[in-house]
Amino acid sequence: MTKTVLCLVGSLRKNSMNGLIVAALPALAPPDTMLVQFDVAQVPLYNQDHDNETPPDAIAALRLAVAQADAIVIATPEYNHSIPAVTKNFIDWASRPFMKGVLTNKRIMVLVCGPVATSGSRGLAATRQILELLGNTVSTALTIGGAHEKVKNVDGQVLVVDSELAQQLRTGLIDLLI
Ligand SMILES: Cc1cc2nc3c(=O)[nH]c(=O)nc-3n(C[C@H](O)[C@H](O)[C@H](O)COP(=O)(O)O)c2cc1C
Repeated sequence: MTKTVLCLVGSLRKNSMNGLIVAALPALAPPDTMLVQFDVAQVPLYNQDHDNETPPDAIAALRLAVAQADAIVIATPEYNHSIPAVTKNFIDWASRPFMKGVLTNKRIMVLVCGPVATSGSRGLAATRQILELLGNTVSTALTIGGAHEKVKNVDGQVLVVDSELAQQLRTGLIDLLI
C-alpha cells in the first residue's frame, strides 16, 4: 500500500535550499511512497482565540494533512541558532491540544539545510526538542551544509548531486517508513 510522507518546509523563500532539498526527495524515496508538500505560507500566526472548533481553513487543512500522513519530513533553516518562526508556527498549530494534537506519535525526519557547512546543529537540536516533547520519534536528524552545491536543477528535475547526501536521504526515507 502506498505510504504518504508529508513535507513541511520552514522557509517561505522562493529559492529556499530547504525547499530544494524537499523537491529532490521523490527521486530518492522507496517505491510506493508518495511525498506531498503542504504550503505553510497560508498558515496564519498562532492565535489561541482562533484555536477552537472552527479554526481557520488553512489550519483545518494542515491538521488533516498531518493526521493522514504516515510520516513527516520537516526541512527547516536554522535562524539565530534556533528555529524560525515559520517552523515553530506550523508545529504549534499542529501540536494543540497538548498531547492530543495530530503532531504526536509520528515518525519525523528533520533536515536543517543552509549554506554554511559547519552550522545547523543548534537549529536541529531545537527542532528535535520540540518534536520529542510532543511525543514524536525523530528517526533521522541531518544538518545539510553547503546545500546550494549539493542540489541542482538538471533539465527541470531537482536532483541531489552529492552522492553521500543522496545516500543519507535514501536511508533516512527508508527509516522514516519502518
Ligand atoms: C534571520 C536569519 C537568521 C539566521 N541565522 C542563522 C544561524 O543561526 N545559523 C546559520 O547557519 N544560518 C543562519 N541564517 C542563514 C540561513 O541558514 C540561510 O539564509 C538559509 O539559506 C535559509 O534557508 P532557506 O534557503 O531554506 O531559506 C540565518 C538567516 C536569517 C534570515
